[in-house]
Amino acid sequence: MHEPDAAIGALRERLAQAASVCVLTGAGMSAESGIPTFRDALTGLWSRFDPAQLASEAGFRADPALVWDWYAERRAGVLAAEPNPGHRALADFARRRPGVLTVVTQNVDDLHQRAGNRRAIRLHGDILRDRWLESCPRDCDPAQATPGRPPRCADCGNLLRPGVVWFGEMLPAGALEAAEVAARGCDVMLVVGTSGAVWPAAGLAALARRAGAYVAILNPADSEIDADAHLCLRGTAATLLPGLLG
Ligand code: OAD
Repeated sequence: MHEPDAAIGALRERLAQAASVCVLTGAGMSAESGIPTFRDALTGLWSRFDPAQLASEAGFRADPALVWDWYAERRAGVLAAEPNPGHRALADFARRRPGVLTVVTQNVDDLHQRAGNRRAIRLHGDILRDRWLESCPRDCDPAQATPGRPPRCADCGNLLRPGVVWFGEMLPAGALEAAEVAARGCDVMLVVGTSGAVWPAAGLAALARRAGAYVAILNPADSEIDADAHLCLRGTAATLLPGLLG
């Protein structure tokens, strides 16, 4: 048997025996569904912008139409995409082994949910749910916003913004805490399709390892947190996950 086959077999066995499995996913998880990774999304028309310009409150306030258009393009891509065999393998595992799997995702798409993992912990929000830029004292309904780039409130003038976490913003209340509980409590953590460049999500692998979990990274390329893992499997989410979890 080749070394990678042996490693995959051993990991498969660990997953089969585990009482608790935590899977941390990043943009690479959805790449095979046709959704560009965060860094790949900054190509073509958008290559002259830096992430802080397109994914920050300051960038939005400086040019709301530009940022709205970038997110509108990404939102259309999410709506057109379908879960890939990796998302489905995770959802099948959760169905077969109730209570064992916790998915923690940095992705703002809804592909884990559409595959059947409705309880995935979303660290970076939801691109399909807009919210007001300023908190609204009158509790105006974002669904009633007047269409525009971006839509705005006819009463207050408040702007809609994408419901994602931007650079420099807090994670949704309770999400990081729930993710840390899952990381500390798991027997095996799989880290799938993340560059490990964005914190605090990137710290979850080391947290799991310190707490005694076996940590495996699934990624076709190096990541910044490879040193935190016991095993790095070089492959894609849709090719590796069905074999590991099936
Ligand atoms: P990145 O775009 O930084 O990294 C994507 C990772 O996926 C890279 O390590 C690729 O090698 C890997 N990859 C590519 N194709 C893959 C495939 N088919 N299967 C598995 N892996 C693959 O995305 P994230 O690490 O998710 O935050 O970035 C983290 C955060 O940075 C994002 O959530 C976003 C951004 O700022 C917010 O929007 C707040």
